[in-house]
Amino acid sequence: MSFERSIKIAPSILAADFANFGAECAAVEAQGADWIHVDVMDGHFVPNISFGPTTCAAIRPHIKGVMDVHLMISPVDPYIQAFADAGADILTAHVEAGPHIHRTLQAIRAAGMRPGVALNPGTPTSAVAEVLDIVDLVCVMTVNPGFGGQKFIPMAAKIAELRDMIGDREVHIEIDGGVDPNTAPGLAAAGADVLVAGSAVFKGGTATDPSGYGTNITAIRDAATAAQR
Ligand code: DX5
Ligand code: ZN
Repeated sequence: MSFERSIKIAPSILAADFANFGAECAAVEAQGADWIHVDVMDGHFVPNISFGPTTCAAIRPHIKGVMDVHLMISPVDPYIQAFADAGADILTAHVEAGPHIHRTLQAIRAAGMRPGVALNPGTPTSAVAEVLDIVDLVCVMTVNPGFGGQKFIPMAAKIAELRDMIGDREVHIEIDGGVDPNTAPGLAAAGADVLVAGSAVFKGGTATDPSGYGTNITAIRDAATAAQR
């Protein structure tokens, strides 16, 4: 996978039909999704439980492109190999999930995946300053993690600061939470290139009638691309 900073839309299957993940992944990919964003929650790091590595392994054959797994779990390290075995391309851990984020990111790379680090809304960019050389992605949360469909928390200054910190490094800035055609331009202008969107993509479509997914993805992509920094 070569690095490029054009706008990528990553639908979050947290907003998809949980009884039909395979078909939902195939449908959003066919409708223009760049990556598939997979939210893993443990009911401990965040106040909600979604699913784990077994589900990731089950959906992997239904994804042609990038499987972007966002871990909202603590601890992370005991489960890294399970997500590698499940076929995750990108594995993102929260900087708040434990005292040894550097070790965790090294272990993700060593297991053959691309490491990402995520920041909660209340965490400053300085928390990831010392790991920018060992990650492929920084995920800036624009909601408090745990649920889809929450109200967007504006964070343009934080994103722009992170963009400056990253400089020439080949590191994606991913935004997660409340992304839609209205919030996307400000995020792209601040320096984001990967936009996760759950409810804004999956509303108005189904796996058997997915054209609404395509309309939604295009609306977010076009709004962001026109504003990208
Ligand atoms: C939140 C998850 C998000 C979520 C986004 O904890 O990490 O990926 O699914 O959903 P929307 O786009 O509906 O805010
Ligand atoms: Zn997520």
